[in-house]
Amino acid sequence: MSLSHASRPAAHFMIEAPTPGADYTAVIAGLEAEAVGRYSLRSPASGEVIASVADCGAAQARLAADNAQRGFESWRQTTPFARAALLKAWHSAMLEAKEVLALTMAREMGKPIGEARGEVDYAASFLEWYAEQAKRLDGDILPSQHPDKRLAVLRQPVGPVFAITPWNFPAAMITRKVAPGLAAGCSVIVKPAEQTPVTAILLARLWQQVGGPAEVFQVITAERPAEISDLLIADTRIRKVTFTGSTPVGKHLYAKSAATMKRMSLELGGHAPFLVFDDADIDAAVAEVMASKFRNGGQTCVCTNRVYVQRGIFDSFAKRLAQAVDALSVGQPEEETTQIGPLVSQAGRDKAQSHIDDALAQGARRLTAAREVDGFFVAPTVLADVTEEMRIMQEETFGPVAPLVAFDDEAQAVAAANATPFGLAAYLWTRNLGRAHRVSEALDYGIVGVNDGAPSVPQAPFGGVKDSGIGREGGRYGIDEYLDLKFVSTRLDG
Ligand code: SIN
Repeated sequence: MSLSHASRPAAHFMIEAPTPGADYTAVIAGLEAEAVGRYSLRSPASGEVIASVADCGAAQARLAADNAQRGFESWRQTTPFARAALLKAWHSAMLEAKEVLALTMAREMGKPIGEARGEVDYAASFLEWYAEQAKRLDGDILPSQHPDKRLAVLRQPVGPVFAITPWNFPAAMITRKVAPGLAAGCSVIVKPAEQTPVTAILLARLWQQVGGPAEVFQVITAERPAEISDLLIADTRIRKVTFTGSTPVGKHLYAKSAATMKRMSLELGGHAPFLVFDDADIDAAVAEVMASKFRNGGQTCVCTNRVYVQRGIFDSFAKRLAQAVDALSVGQPEEETTQIGPLVSQAGRDKAQSHIDDALAQGARRLTAAREVDGFFVAPTVLADVTEEMRIMQEETFGPVAPLVAFDDEAQAVAAANATPFGLAAYLWTRNLGRAHRVSEALDYGIVGVNDGAPSVPQAPFGGVKDSGIGREGGRYGIDEYLDLKFVSTRLDG
């Protein structure tokens, strides 16, 4: 495989954010030969059509799988150093195209523009980190009890990968999967969420514009993707499926993938507790709960969903949190001052609003001011007098609502935090070092933030336990998900 990135200038990448009338094709090598339908992409902020996007089906999925197999055969032969150079070039291209990518996410999913720029940095950080990690795909030499034998362990790419990515981080959840896959020597087909296809398409265009081979990273878009997913999961050439999304869909994909014995990574739902102990610096604790709860309008898998506050500081914490939430600016995603945009869909808005309505109907108290909102917007809300029976304490809300519950002691708080089938992220605020260790060890979660509401970084393992999924993304752990171990035993006098 010849890689042409070295001869490309770093400037003038040809990508555009969605505007009415814009038309995006999927990024599948050879697709020009195929007739593909279109679906309309609507802004969650205004409801207007903002672009038309390729609506792929079985024929395009087959073509993508053929390409991915061919791409894999040649990509796996490239050196990790060549792969690293391409990932680095892609990283620079993403940062150079930051405004276009950020605007695209603001338009597609309603992410406030400031946060969208932050997501571009976060997404690009996975490309940079795995560019460096590609050079560390070392194996092992094992000691042998036989004088005439040499024992080695190789780490080799699993093969073509099918990645199903969510709408809440349209760029970062792609790069967190694709970068380790490419670094390992796999080819990857991404099926982005139907709400956010354009960011994925632009990332693939940037990849090609820095010299990335078209068959190695492809994007297949569809309004109703079940047919594509079923086909690619049944295809024996696809050796791994990686999915970020809801727990019911993850379990469905896991069961389907058993027939072809695929490697699986599943990053599923969360229901994160935040425990605030009475030794907390209340203002600092409020700031971390704000960061964890209201980031992305509450639409992240690691967003705090339940806030447990020790009784002695409950009232003063609740008052300050409500003040901070009342100060949040709700508005159009492209306005610089906006902190909370619309939720992504009618279904998303209805679920979050129904959690508020259900809690209020069962006796919860709203601590924040009422605001006039319409469309897919939900007023950021803090609720007190919440009980464990309310829906908001049982299900992931994925919206800007913070329910507060008082607790008396450490054991009670840990038991409440763990009383859920989910186990993605949990948080606590304390100045007591012993408690910080005790509680973080006792929480049944894949990620714990101690006095830290925003722990995600590219070098750390991200993922959950129990119904929150299997496998880890990020860091040196994340690349193992794309590698098989091969043991080679060599008899010297053979
Ligand atoms: C997610 O919501 O799954 C991603 C959040 C993160 O990377 O911090």
